[in-house]
Amino acid sequence: MSLNVFITRQIPEEGITLLKKFCQTVEVNPHDRSLTYNELLERVKGRDAILTMLSDRIDVRLLNEAKNLKVIANYAVGYDNIDVKAATARVIVVTNTPGVLTDSTADMAWALLFSITRRIIEGDRLTRAGKFTGWAPMMLLGGDLVGKTLGIIGAGRIGTAMAMRSRGWNMRILYTTQSSRNAVLEEMFGAKRVDLETLLKESDFISIHAPLSEKTRHLIGPHEFSLMKRTAYLINTGRGAVIDEVALVNALRNKQIAGAGLDVYEAEPKLKPGLAELDNVVLAPHLGSATVETRTKMSLMAAENIIAVLNRQKPPNCVNPEVLT
Ligand code: DGY
Repeated sequence: MSLNVFITRQIPEEGITLLKKFCQTVEVNPHDRSLTYNELLERVKGRDAILTMLSDRIDVRLLNEAKNLKVIANYAVGYDNIDVKAATARVIVVTNTPGVLTDSTADMAWALLFSITRRIIEGDRLTRAGKFTGWAPMMLLGGDLVGKTLGIIGAGRIGTAMAMRSRGWNMRILYTTQSSRNAVLEEMFGAKRVDLETLLKESDFISIHAPLSEKTRHLIGPHEFSLMKRTAYLINTGRGAVIDEVALVNALRNKQIAGAGLDVYEAEPKLKPGLAELDNVVLAPHLGSATVETRTKMSLMAAENIIAVLNRQKPPNCVNPEVLT
């Protein structure tokens, strides 16, 4: 049997090389950009597997064009870009890349937290503009971390890694989760599970790690901003749409909160009007998993998932295991 795979964007070679050992055709999007939806529609035809990015919309219409498709290997831990229900109905396996990007994403959340709290980007802009005229006692004062309260929304793997990194600053940890209690956080870090309202009212730093779903879309909106401390910072390395970005722009503009550090956006890569003009926000271009080591592991993991399915074996990271039975 001749196996045919399409990779929607150039990824580290390791995964591609592995795929080439098992599949006769492995084609990679030749452009240095995402494919348009219509281009993707054409490219999926006749493929046994597609290796997709979180920016690719995989919906019913696209699945209907992909008559031979057996597996969609998403190159991300999140898979809200895929209509998993529709894939399951067509007995298509969907896989993701959990675990390997936990540390890099938690590191990114801390990088944003430091950048916004210690005003590093503002300082960089000022220095480059030649406006650093000497040390000044009141220049770019930020906030301390030691002893403050860190609120984690979504205490899965990445939320837990975020909390673990707070050790050096002796922080109090609050968390919310949709699943069962996080024993590691509670027993090792004295973390307390609270409701969202308590977390928003009591936290100095709030970091979002909950996956995007219909339950979490716009979880943080005008009401939630009104509960937060005026000195609070909001960090998001999960999915943009968990925050109502119009409400965020208003909250930042009106100094309802002190600042935000964002890696993800509601209508990525577009920004909500006004966001880029604000000084009290740090904006990163979705770099959570962007380290050489992590992206290499992700490429191998996605390839292993595809190979397993095409070999009629259980893939290591299936998100719709019901199709395997
Ligand atoms: C993911 O894998 O879902 C992350 O958003 C990548 O940064």
